Amino acid sequence: MTLFSPIAHGYWRLLDWHLRPNEIQNLILKGLDLGISTLDHADIYGDYQGEAAFGQGFKRLPPSTRSQVQLVTKCGIHLISSSAPARKVKHYDYRAAHIIQSVDNSLERLGTDYLDALLLHRPSPLLQPQEVAEAFEQLYQAGKVRGFGLSNFSPSQWDVVQRYWHQPLWTQQVEISPLQTDYLFNGGQDHALAHAYSPMAWSPLGGGRLFQPKTPQEQRVFGAFQTLSQECGIPIDTLAYAWLRALPSKPIILVGSGKVERLKAATEALSFTFPYEAWFHILEASRGHAVA
Ligand SMILES: NC(=O)c1ccc[n+]([C@@H]2O[C@H](COP(=O)([O-])OP(=O)(O)OC[C@H]3O[C@@H](n4cnc5c(N)ncnc54)[C@H](OP(=O)(O)O)[C@@H]3O)[C@@H](O)[C@H]2O)c1
Repeated sequence: MTLFSPIAHGYWRLLDWHLRPNEIQNLILKGLDLGISTLDHADIYGDYQGEAAFGQGFKRLPPSTRSQVQLVTKCGIHLISSSAPARKVKHYDYRAAHIIQSVDNSLERLGTDYLDALLLHRPSPLLQPQEVAEAFEQLYQAGKVRGFGLSNFSPSQWDVVQRYWHQPLWTQQVEISPLQTDYLFNGGQDHALAHAYSPMAWSPLGGGRLFQPKTPQEQRVFGAFQTLSQECGIPIDTLAYAWLRALPSKPIILVGSGKVERLKAATEALSFTFPYEAWFHILEASRGHAVA
């Protein structure tokens, strides 16, 4: 789906950035200047406070900005939270009423009247695909959501939802990084290529662990990137993003930093071609062994 920008901005950690509404507004604009127009949220981010904090900044922008960004959010996880004191058990909910209510809540908090994409956050054993498709249809017909996708679903779980939803699912968020390569070997990338969609790579720097290596794997990967960085004169984060973008499924990178210079480092990965053999050197460092 070409709707999304190749580098997207993830707002999971927004409350940790301690930004005032005018600073959030500036961050959105700086991102747009860099070509980062896809902005990722979830109802649960910041213990249900993240979308509203973003909305405080987003609402300050002129209405014309709305068509320049793609707002993505997710639904389906019920956290144990002070905002839901009666809840005793963390669980998932993909009943139609919850999906629809969750979208209404997200629209209100984000300060918009439509979402570009709604993703189901995690697969649930109780997910009824026909009921999900009916909820999608209602939201689509009401103009509240333009397209739908998934997150953390297996290829076969994707196929089940797609069997009932009559439009193509747009994307799937998957954890992919130089520290987490399962997607390359568990059929995830094959599925994306076969169905012609790009995944969104979450925690592309391992949630920052790439820069604070503790485990043997983290130390090997960091060391390999450090050497390459010195050889090419390219910062490690740019190299890590370029390593992901070298994949044929062309993952959309969900950058998790609130710092403009780090957003810029991500966009620079788009014009860097990762050296072919060195790509396998990083893979080897990650897995701890050469390919067979
Ligand atoms: N669908 C899902 O289940 C799911 C799950 C997790 C995340 N996500 C999405 O993916 C997005 C990204 O995830 P993430 O935040 O874990 O991504 P990440 O980019 O792997 O990790 C972000 C962390 O890395 C640090 N970092 C970034 N660049 C750095 C550098 N050059 N040097 C040192 N530290 C650096 C950041 O610190 P600074 O803030 O200091 O830059 C931040 O703490 C989230 O915002 C969310 O939208 C989705």
